[in-house]
Amino acid sequence: MKIGIDKIGFYTPHMFVDMNKLAVARDVEPEKFTIGIGQSQMAVAPVTQDSVTLAANAALEIIDDEDRDKIDFVIFGSESGIDHSKSGAVYVHRLLGLNPNARAVEVKQACYAATAGIQMAKGHVALNPESKVLVLGTDIARYGLNTSGESTQGAGAVAMVISANPRIMELEEHNVYLTNDIMDFWRPIYSDKAFVDGKFSNEQYILFFNKVWEIYKEKSGLELKDMEAICFHLPYTKMGLKALRTVLDEAPEDVRERLLENYQISTTYNRNVGNIYTGALYLSLLSLLENKELADGSRIGLFSYGSGAVGEFFTGILQPNYREYLNIAGHQNLFKSRKEVSVEEYETIFEETLPVDGSDIEFDISKDPATIVLSGTLDNKRQYVNKNR
Ligand code: COA
Repeated sequence: MKIGIDKIGFYTPHMFVDMNKLAVARDVEPEKFTIGIGQSQMAVAPVTQDSVTLAANAALEIIDDEDRDKIDFVIFGSESGIDHSKSGAVYVHRLLGLNPNARAVEVKQACYAATAGIQMAKGHVALNPESKVLVLGTDIARYGLNTSGESTQGAGAVAMVISANPRIMELEEHNVYLTNDIMDFWRPIYSDKAFVDGKFSNEQYILFFNKVWEIYKEKSGLELKDMEAICFHLPYTKMGLKALRTVLDEAPEDVRERLLENYQISTTYNRNVGNIYTGALYLSLLSLLENKELADGSRIGLFSYGSGAVGEFFTGILQPNYREYLNIAGHQNLFKSRKEVSVEEYETIFEETLPVDGSDIEFDISKDPATIVLSGTLDNKRQYVNKNR
C-alpha cells in the first residue's frame, strides 16, 4: 500500500521585514544577509499569531469535510508550543472542527518534530488504511533583537494530510535516522528566545547529513543520480547548500547541475519567510513542487535536522499529476498580500508579547487578516477565534 503526503497547506503571517534594511539597521553589509545567509525577507508574526493559529491557518487551507471526518490523529510538531502540558493539537482539532474520535498530541525535538510526526503518521495509516493523519510543523523562530541569530528568524506553518494512496508524494522505505546528545541549539523552559552555538550547529548539521547519507546509500543501493532533487531543513537558505556541496563530487556534472538548480528552486519560499523550524524542510519541498514542473515518478530526497540533535534522511516519489493537488495560486496570493514593515515597526512588534503574570489582555484582531487568530488571554487561558465560525 502506498502511504504519503496527500495534501500540503502553508501559512505565514501578513508582515515581513526586508533583510537589506535589517542589515543597514544592524550595521552589516546587506550581502551578508542576502548572500552569506541567503535570506531576502523575514516573516514577522503579530501578537495575534502563535504556533496554534499558524498551524490552524495552514490546515484550514487544505481540510475539507471528508478530511474532517477521516482525520483520526493530529500531530502538532513545534518548538514554540504555548503550554507545557496541553498539546497545541487539541486547540487545532477544535478550531478546525475535526471528528471528536481522534488522537491529538504534540511532538518535540527541535526542527525534527514534524518529520517524527510524518513517520508516526505513516505507521498509523499502515495499521489503519482508512485513516488520515494531520501533521503540523509550526513555529515562530525568535533569537532576539541584535543577536547573531536575528537574521535567521521567521514564522509560519506547514500542514500535511498523510494517507493511503496519496496524491502528492509517496513516502519510500530505507529511512536512516541518527541521534546524538549535543548542545548546538536549545531553549530552556524559562526563556522565550532560543540559545544557539551557531558555528557548532552548522558543523553538526553537515556531519549528521554526511552520516545519514552514507548509511542511506548502503541501505538503499541508491546514489545522487537517483535523486531528482534533495530538499533540506533550511534554518536559512545557505545552510542546505553547504551540506549539499559536501557530497556533490560523488555525482557526474549533469547530476550536480540538476541538484544545484533544484536546490535553488527549493529555497524560493524559505528565502522570503525565514526559519520556520519544524516546517522549514516541508516549506522547501513545497517551494520545489510549486515552482518547477517535475516529472511524475521523480524521487525527492529529504534531510531533516533538529538540533540537540536528531537527523533523518528519507525519500519520496512524486505521484501522477501531483501539481493539480497543490495550491500554487493561493500561496502566490499569500506572498503578494503581505505588507512590508520597517525595522522600527518589526522591533516594536517583536517586543509585544503576552503577559507572563497571569493578567488578562484583549487584542485588536481586526488588524490581523488571518482567519484564525489569538484574541487575548482570560483567566490564564489563550482565547482563539476562527472568524469563519
Ligand atoms: N557578502 C557575502 N557574504 C558574506 C558577507 C558579505 N559582505 N559577510 C559575511 N558573509 C558570509 C560569511 O562568509 C558566512 O558565510 P559562510 O558561512 O559560507 O562562511 C555567512 O555570511 C555568515 O557569516 P558569519 O560571520 O558566519 O555570521 P554570524 O556569525 O553572524 O552567524 C549564523 C551566522 C547562521 C551562525 C547565525 O545567524 C546563527 O547562529 N543562526 C542560527 C542558526 C540555526 O538556526 N541553527 C539551528 C540549526 S539548524
